[in-house]
Amino acid sequence: MEKLMIAGGDLLKGTVRVSGAKNSAVALIPATILADSPVTIEGLPDISDVEILKGLLEEIGGKVDLRNDDMTVDPSSMISMPLPNGKVKMLRASYYLMGAMLGRFKKAVIGLPGGCHLGPRPIDQHIKGFQALGASVTNEQGAIYLRADELRGARIYLDVVSVGATINIMLAAVRAKGRTIIENAAKEPEIIDVATLLTNMGANIKGAGTDIIRIDGVDSLHGCHHTIIPDRIEAGTYMIIGAAVGGGVLIDNVIPQHLESLIAKLREMGVRIESGDDQVFIERGPNPLKAVDIKTLVYPGFATDLQQPFTTLLTNATGSCVVTDTIYGARFKHIDELRRMNADIKVEGRTAIINGPVQLQGAKVKASDLRAGAALVIAGLMAEGITEVTGLEHIDRGYSHLVEKLTGLGATVWRESMTKEELEQLKST
Ligand code: EPU
Repeated sequence: MEKLMIAGGDLLKGTVRVSGAKNSAVALIPATILADSPVTIEGLPDISDVEILKGLLEEIGGKVDLRNDDMTVDPSSMISMPLPNGKVKMLRASYYLMGAMLGRFKKAVIGLPGGCHLGPRPIDQHIKGFQALGASVTNEQGAIYLRADELRGARIYLDVVSVGATINIMLAAVRAKGRTIIENAAKEPEIIDVATLLTNMGANIKGAGTDIIRIDGVDSLHGCHHTIIPDRIEAGTYMIIGAAVGGGVLIDNVIPQHLESLIAKLREMGVRIESGDDQVFIERGPNPLKAVDIKTLVYPGFATDLQQPFTTLLTNATGSCVVTDTIYGARFKHIDELRRMNADIKVEGRTAIINGPVQLQGAKVKASDLRAGAALVIAGLMAEGITEVTGLEHIDRGYSHLVEKLTGLGATVWRESMTKEELEQLKST
């Protein structure tokens, strides 16, 4: 096992290229199950979630060729193999195998997903959707059993706006008989990306990106080529890094409209930002950062996934900032670690109150989840001295070539093997 070492205090400059979107990738890869000939997805991020999904598609008989960032999946010999345990538990997004396998085989057995611990993460809306399409759904010993004689289009109102449920219902509905209407659908760019792939495969989907999606079922779907969208959360993370310690950072391969809420907040803080078609230039500037409040909301509101990295930046703002996470009220596991680094933060319920500015100090900290990891990496870059971040397996789930990208900007960052004593200590915490 490795830890990430960061020597803080460097002024970062240069260009960083954003990879393909993790939260699209984890849906696009299962979506290939629905085709009957090879599908190629171009521009995938080099992250462990992609490797795990590749393994899962192979387990059910898919032929998968992953070369550089492009994956070709031949789904023609896939079978409806039960996946109650193993790799399926290693990532939360394995729930997309439910919709995709149900859509293709009318049955699936999928272990209940793992993933980041952000407090309760129910999948009741996914299940409500599958049931509305005619599937019976039971939970037996930690695995979800789905079965349908036939899937029939239905009108489904989501009680909670959910990215996962919206995509999962689309996956199950594209080959169902008749029309499905998803009301109160999520509008995240990743949903449009999945709908674009499915449409290229021959599906009939209208309204992706709005809160009403209409799907007219088709009998079969065919292979195609698809290029994934850039990762708006990775891009946002580097923008925050640029605002925190940047002497002029150009973020390349980004869709600036996907990040409007972050750009607005950074400008409010006094950060200089210029955006082009697929690039954003960001510079910290000479003035102290102004305090701002944020509240996470569904897209196009401020993304919950950027709340943790943004909180780290706020430790350097002058005054008091209030951060409220309305999506995941318990997404504050990074706060204790930031406190170890000298941050002045209080958590009350769904809200964190940050007082600044403080000079963060290097410390030994642990990433409890993916975006907490990003928050700690940013803290390390801002801190005086050396920061050691453990829990790298979380960061590797979502940040492609993190060390190379940061080093390319002039950061002093490296990975080191953990000693036996450190591993024992980590296990006991
Ligand atoms: N919810 C329900 N019932 C459901 C589904 C969701 O109550 O059936 C609630 C959740 O508990 C949460 C809210 O609805 O409070 C939104 O959840 P959503 O379903 O939208 O989240 P998700 O699909 O499980 C995706 C991303 C997350 C990101 C959220 C919110 C993937 C694989 N994950 O999760 O990304 O935080 O949307 O935007 O797409 C990350 O990248 O670090 C990450 C955790």
